[in-house]
Amino acid sequence: MEPARRKFIKVCVVGASPCAALAGAPAPAVPPASSIPLVSRQYHRVKLVDIEGKAIKAKSLKAHHNYVFNYPYVSTPCFLLNLDKPLSDKVSLTSETGASYEWPGGVGAAKSIVAYSAICAHKLAYPTAQISFISYRANPSRASARGRVISCCADKSVYDPFIGAKVMSGPAPQPLASVLLEHDAKTDELYAIGIFGGEKFNDFFQKYDFKLSMEMGATAKEVVTRTTKLSDLAAYSTQTAQC
Ligand code: FES
Repeated sequence: MEPARRKFIKVCVVGASPCAALAGAPAPAVPPASSIPLVSRQYHRVKLVDIEGKAIKAKSLKAHHNYVFNYPYVSTPCFLLNLDKPLSDKVSLTSETGASYEWPGGVGAAKSIVAYSAICAHKLAYPTAQISFISYRANPSRASARGRVISCCADKSVYDPFIGAKVMSGPAPQPLASVLLEHDAKTDELYAIGIFGGEKFNDFFQKYDFKLSMEMGATAKEVVTRTTKLSDLAAYSTQTAQC
């Protein structure tokens, strides 16, 4: 499926309701930029599995550990993090276009599991097979006096994964896009079901068009369906940049 053919979820909006327009109601007056709501984009409901194809159990996730999976496209990595703390409070965030949205917190029995696009909102650094400039850092570093942050060593943007990957410092113009997660309380399995916040996928495909086509041919823009493999960042990228 091409980016332009994504379906839209009629949920998770703040402010005026684009859902009404989707349902065929008269389009509302255009609100000021600061209150334009962001609609979540629904992609496939995809189960997180291990390298052997077995479902990941939420309780098996190590705390403060970098996990990576590809979603919603086969070439777009996301971080999965167990932050070892209930994250039940909604957080109001704003994208670089001025659109507001609400981050719903963590999932899992302890509400401690979150996921974000691993494509930096600044100049789109992302984990490749060779190196990752962006990662979760449990400990303080030169980039951030506080540990337990996502930092990008390309230009030192720092994001707070406890509050929707809001920008703490650096040149990033908006939070990392959030992955909508679903937790099955009966099976303890995890699913990625959509993206919300400011997506960078079109920019990503434009910037890395040549690189991706050399590495993956025409498959780079294919959406993930059914399952996606969860890896340690150390297995996904040979090196992780430190800063
Ligand atoms: S690309 Fe991440 S801070 Fe510039």
